[in-house]
Amino acid sequence: MSRNRRGLALLVTGALALAGCTADPAPRRESRSAPTPGATPSVTPGPAGVGDPYFPTAGNSGYDVERYTLKVRYDPASDELRGDATVRATAGADLPLFHLDLAGLTVRRVTVDGVPARHTREGTELVVTPAAPVRAGAAFTVQVGYDGRPVPLRNETIGEGGWLHTADGAVALGQPESASTWFPVNDHPSDKAAYDFEITVPKGLVAVANGVPGGQRLAAGGFTTWRWSEAAPMASYLSTVVIGKYRTSTGEHQGRPVFSAVASSLPRGAADGSIARTVAVADYLESVFGPYPFAAYGGVVVDEPRIRYALETQSRPVYSANFFRGGENTGVVAHELAHQWFGDSVSVARWADIWLNEGLATYAEWLWAEHEGRNTAQATFDQEYTTADDAVWRVPPAAPGAANLFSESVYQRGGMAVHALRVTVGDDAFFRLLKTWAAEKRNGNATTAEFVATAERVSGQQLDDLFAAWLYGTERPPPPTRAG
Ligand code: TRP
Ligand code: ZN
Repeated sequence: MSRNRRGLALLVTGALALAGCTADPAPRRESRSAPTPGATPSVTPGPAGVGDPYFPTAGNSGYDVERYTLKVRYDPASDELRGDATVRATAGADLPLFHLDLAGLTVRRVTVDGVPARHTREGTELVVTPAAPVRAGAAFTVQVGYDGRPVPLRNETIGEGGWLHTADGAVALGQPESASTWFPVNDHPSDKAAYDFEITVPKGLVAVANGVPGGQRLAAGGFTTWRWSEAAPMASYLSTVVIGKYRTSTGEHQGRPVFSAVASSLPRGAADGSIARTVAVADYLESVFGPYPFAAYGGVVVDEPRIRYALETQSRPVYSANFFRGGENTGVVAHELAHQWFGDSVSVARWADIWLNEGLATYAEWLWAEHEGRNTAQATFDQEYTTADDAVWRVPPAAPGAANLFSESVYQRGGMAVHALRVTVGDDAFFRLLKTWAAEKRNGNATTAEFVATAERVSGQQLDDLFAAWLYGTERPPPPTRAG
């Protein structure tokens, strides 16, 4: 289907193909891979890296963040960002020093519990030495004042991302990393936290972020401050800010606020219509996965040529306008909304398990298509199973390697693995499993091993062979059949 085997290409070209669109040119993904001077792979309290096998320098060890309070002022005219970040955390060990991830930008001031702290930069790390070590088990508050022109992260294999200056504003977006381009952060999904945002932009521009809208108020100098709050634990790569000229729509659904935005540069039409289906798609997914996990709904459509993908930013996915150029496209909406359960509420603990996000989100697209009276999930499986190219069978979705994190194996074979599981255990156990998994792991992190264990417990079946073939094998497994 897709000529491009790299990455999110899959989702974009796949969804465009569904919508009858021409395929997009090769999209890129970003990651920060510059080795951090002095970083060690150990989990010594303090230093950089949580020990993710694929991204050893991502995140930091020694503490656990509870809440980020991010006050950011951005002027698109000058591309100048001024930030004041408050990071509330708990020390996991005595911390004579600790790291936060921060790429570019100039740090002006750091305090720990209100006391000025020493700070240095090492590559994309901000190293903070408090006046006195933070004691193991202690809650502490770091406040960082910073400014500068944000620079997106670049990586040979995955492309660019993070804070992007756009024609009329900015978009902060990217996976596996993007947050560190605009605030100091423990940038790894294993450390989820609550977020409060206050985004100050020139009057007339919209500033959207995650979660529940907290209204707007006038700020100094002809600026407006937009407030947003995401109370449920959120992985840092799922944070977003979108600034610019947007048509907004607001509402309420199931007692929760709905807030969506479509770039004003786009003609009113397919994008607006597709995003307006958000709550209907979410209600359908709720019938399959269990309760919608967050306190707000929405979606943002950006018209920025460098963003050729969608991302499941928590409670409010961001979509490239490309998805809607061929007409309404609820397939991509179903995909991003499915991630609200699988990816956002239940998050990976390490990037190698990304198929847990993408396989289930792909499968949700298949279920949604069947629900809408298009192909059955079985027909989609049959189609994928017979047409997948060699790379899909060569790359194991549950151990794809960092370079194949967003490969067709992770998405399409991941979806096929979910269907193979369904066929093997039967619909009753399969749909109970989906709800059980979402409920038991809600607001947390999970691994493939835990998914396998839950599948075996719920179905009462031994599934080692099935998962070995579908998740870890390097050749095409036999077609699934109903077990015992
Ligand atoms: N996870 C996104 C999705 O499935 C797609 C994606 C992959 C992506 N890599 C990315 C989005 C990098 C933004 C940046 O919907
Ligand atoms: Zn996805």
